[in-house]
Amino acid sequence: METGEKARRLQHLYEAIRNDSTYRSADMGTVFVPGRGSFEGRPVVFIGEAPGRDEERQEAPFVGAAGRNLNELLRDIGVPREAVFVTNLVKYRPFTSTGDNRNPTPEESRRALPYLNEELVILTPRLVVCLGLSSAKALLNDRSLKMGQANGTIFTGHGLQILVTYHPSPYNYRIPGKREAMAEAFSKLGKILSEPQ
Ligand code: URA
Repeated sequence: METGEKARRLQHLYEAIRNDSTYRSADMGTVFVPGRGSFEGRPVVFIGEAPGRDEERQEAPFVGAAGRNLNELLRDIGVPREAVFVTNLVKYRPFTSTGDNRNPTPEESRRALPYLNEELVILTPRLVVCLGLSSAKALLNDRSLKMGQANGTIFTGHGLQILVTYHPSPYNYRIPGKREAMAEAFSKLGKILSEPQ
């Protein structure tokens, strides 16, 4: 699909999510956060869980602390952030009773999944990278997936190649074992990208 057509279809899809009154729970923000980045040809598509407060403010995914960690992991394998597409399973910020960010619930993930699948059909990725268990469990339809085993593994599902790694949250990034596991998964990504398509 030509890039202009992809852009049109993405806008159409995002409009459909905004118009779906069942998509957004009562304890989610009202600001829609679309995916962002390059979708020329067959891009690499990163999928997080849901926007946080920083992402809601800037209406863009992974622009806060986790985004800075993602940028660093990409920089270490020589891939500019602008060269990839970054999106989230859920496109609104889920919040707790005290107003903090929270992970999407399994039910919220289930409601978001058909739209994410549609987004991936439009993007035609060369490789999908699931950042954290929320998107991995939803895309691979495996509620019992464990990151200890899944990190760095490439799965095949829906005709897609799906690499799973830890979410680059500040919490995970501070734990040396998890940080090393992320670096290993990203170095696998770097090797794949250095091979001819
Ligand atoms: N965490 C996510 O999963 N997504 C974002 O966009 C930011 C932080």
